[in-house]
Amino acid sequence: MIIAKTVDEVRKYVNAWRKEGFTIGLVPTMGYLHEGHASLVDKAVSMCDKVVASDFVNPTQFGPGEDLESYPRDFEHDCQLLEQHGCSLVFYPSVDEMYPDGNGKTDTYIEILDDMPKQLCGKTRPIHFRGVCTVVGKLFNIVMPDKAFFGQKDAQQLAIIKRMVRDLSYGIEIVGCPIVREEDGLAKSSRNTYLNPEERQAALCLSKAIFAGEKMAKDGEKDADKIVAAMKEIIEKEPLAKIDYVSAVNGITMATVSKIEGETLFAMAVYIGKTRLIDNFIYSV
Ligand code: PAJ
Repeated sequence: MIIAKTVDEVRKYVNAWRKEGFTIGLVPTMGYLHEGHASLVDKAVSMCDKVVASDFVNPTQFGPGEDLESYPRDFEHDCQLLEQHGCSLVFYPSVDEMYPDGNGKTDTYIEILDDMPKQLCGKTRPIHFRGVCTVVGKLFNIVMPDKAFFGQKDAQQLAIIKRMVRDLSYGIEIVGCPIVREEDGLAKSSRNTYLNPEERQAALCLSKAIFAGEKMAKDGEKDADKIVAAMKEIIEKEPLAKIDYVSAVNGITMATVSKIEGETLFAMAVYIGKTRLIDNFIYSV
């Protein structure tokens, strides 16, 4: 596997591959990789000739007081996992390589101006999706992949990237991949490492609420508010949990819904101690 630290190096390799007629898949990540990320690489390997993963903790998507400095990192382990799963190249840039103005700052952003990035996670993380769109847009420009792979775990991010690709005519196919969970149900996340053993146990209230909500929908409940209320009740029973939001929204626009119609996204963000975790399910009729 090639390790590339500069934009020029990445371009050199991907241009040569494109000349040879290879299709290219991109898996953007912030590193500290786990089986959730690996599932994206597996999917990319199954659909593309060459797979590029990026490993970059992107400063522009972290707000003041968030965990940018403490975000976990282990590049050596990331390389092992990526290589095992058939990744061809990992892009591991410095902050200055991605943001030449220095200090992880930029004056040029990609931002969706309607309400979509202001819903759900956007309510407490107002600049988050602007940073995500900007770095993903830059990665698209650098790698120019045929397809890019994102997890359903970050459902709002996935919907926003699809919208950005449509609005800016990127011509890249966005492939959404299912949530990978621990055996006991907790969605895999780099941030799970922040949890102490007691919190790790308490964190199961998220997946319990997700599974209960999903069952209600499958059993025919059409009232989204009722499902949300039942999910909240499960989380509120856990003393270490504090709800940021539990909401039902349209799966494409992220607008709040109170009845299940078309593709409905049930999404939540919950603090377990100081750690903010997210989870969701989609129900389509
Ligand atoms: P990160 O949190 O590292 O996630 C990288 C990709 O892995 C995302 O598409 C995310 O949805 C997916 N992923 C994470 N946990 C998963 C799980 N349990 N199951 C399936 N997929 C999972 O998301 C980001 O990084 C950043 O915002 C990024 C897109 C790289 C831009 O900086």
